[in-house]
Amino acid sequence: MAKKTAKKTKKTTKRLVGFLPKNAFVMTKKSKAGTPPVDASAFSSLEEVYQSLEGCERCKLCKGRTNIVRGEGSTKPEIMFVGEAPGAKEDETGRPFIGRSGQLLTKMIEAMGVKREDVFIANVVKCRPPENRAPKPDEVEQCRPFLEAQIKMLKPKIVVALGKTATANLLQTKEAIGELRGKIHSYQGTKLIVTFHPAYLLRNPPAKKDCWEDLQRAMKELGWKAPAKS
Ligand code: URA
Repeated sequence: MAKKTAKKTKKTTKRLVGFLPKNAFVMTKKSKAGTPPVDASAFSSLEEVYQSLEGCERCKLCKGRTNIVRGEGSTKPEIMFVGEAPGAKEDETGRPFIGRSGQLLTKMIEAMGVKREDVFIANVVKCRPPENRAPKPDEVEQCRPFLEAQIKMLKPKIVVALGKTATANLLQTKEAIGELRGKIHSYQGTKLIVTFHPAYLLRNPPAKKDCWEDLQRAMKELGWKAPAKS
């Protein structure tokens, strides 16, 4: 009986496949969603983290991505920035924060007196969500161990959570950014500060002043001096 049902399903699938457009498999590619997340403490190097990420199909975001955006920057960063998720440009290139928000983030980093390559930039999830929606809890859960391991191995002195998604997931809180700014928090023993996402700053330029205050707080923690104005 079971054999009969399997045969029937195969036949129906075959018929359907003939009917579907050529690229339909992009949409129907299976993900291994539902498998338990990897154990962050099992990684002993960044290379292992990145190997484990290769061809990742642990959540449904694998279906629409072009590139996994692992994160980039110094391997000995004093400061690490964490955003939400890759957007279109990031998905295309495999590099974090290179679109409009990224250009603003780069300016913010340079205003702190360092270069983009001196810091590390990553996201809560490493694949682009469709239509740039916020990542769903199951997607974050699957990706969390990779970010956790990156932070553990890169050992930044301070993490800057950019916006609501990074803040909510790193601090496991529902509190608003406005309530959390201005304080030094802790993420697994690493200092963490909260500020606005560059995309928000592009929509609300007056908030750049508040963001700069947050970055200055981070600089103070790091013992960095603000660069002289040129
Ligand atoms: N927004 C993010 O949160 N991350 C990126 O990499 C780009 C835009």
